[in-house]
Amino acid sequence: MTFAAPAESVHVRAPGKINVYLGVGGRHDDGYHALATVFQAVSLYEDVIARHADDFSLTVSGVDDPDSVPLDDRNLAMRAAKLLAAAADYHGGVALEIRKSVPVAGGMGGGSADAAAALVACDALWGTGFSTSRLHELAARLGADVPFALHGGTAVGTGRGDQLNPALARGRFDWVLVPSDQGLSTPLVYARLDALREEEGALADDPPLSLDVPIPVLQALRSGDPELLSESIYNDLQEAALHERPELETTILRGIHAGALQGIVSGSGPTVALLCANADAARAVQASLDEHGIESLHVHGPVAGARIIG
Ligand code: C5P
Repeated sequence: MTFAAPAESVHVRAPGKINVYLGVGGRHDDGYHALATVFQAVSLYEDVIARHADDFSLTVSGVDDPDSVPLDDRNLAMRAAKLLAAAADYHGGVALEIRKSVPVAGGMGGGSADAAAALVACDALWGTGFSTSRLHELAARLGADVPFALHGGTAVGTGRGDQLNPALARGRFDWVLVPSDQGLSTPLVYARLDALREEEGALADDPPLSLDVPIPVLQALRSGDPELLSESIYNDLQEAALHERPELETTILRGIHAGALQGIVSGSGPTVALLCANADAARAVQASLDEHGIESLHVHGPVAGARIIG
């Protein structure tokens, strides 16, 4: 393998995601659950800048609480860089700078976006020249949501969520996001779902009766009609997330009262995603939430996956 070093730094932008549909099946022995999900990449981005260095280092900006993001090997972007270096037999390092916009531990795949961006940035910086499928394979080893952050757009995810097939989505969907001050742990929410299912008598290890994305979800995405989509957006993790954060239900209801077509918890939460009829409706929802002192963000999807910019 040859290593060209054409650039001093590489800037990559990767999107956060909303799970438009999230069906959770049984838990496997490795602790992961079988999923049938539809991801949509939205216009809220993580920026990762990679610069040549002898060692591996990381800085993070854009977070209220600096302690909320680890700067060592617990950080998925750091792990991504080291995984790529090992796979490519590259012996140098990298200084990674992460500028965050996606809420930390918010259920929108911000850490996964960092990892995807770090893979693309280091691949370009080091001249590794890995194929998309090789990067996808490394991404899946880092986390279930990382391949989607590479892929972007709208996609059906099966397996742990890492086996992707593109889904046709026409037009654009406008979402108002309500982040929470406090993040929510993804493993905790999955464990809560298992506990709730056990209480209901369905053992967490039972094979799911059916774990497919319902056809109406895919039809609604193809039609580009947000009203149609609002009838089929769904999240199996929502009940578990609401169990941990009951106040999120009020946020969803406020959003609908403010004019959103429908609201769901995004992924494992706690970010609430409100689907709106169009950009004007989203701005009106935002204004109404603002009157109640609720801060929100207006984003749209689908957008591209991890890309080199500048
Ligand atoms: O893959 P990732 O590190 O993002 O997953 C975080 C945690 O979420 C896992 O450790 C697991 O507890 C839970 N998870 C799961 N089933 C999935 C994806 C994630 O149980 N398909």
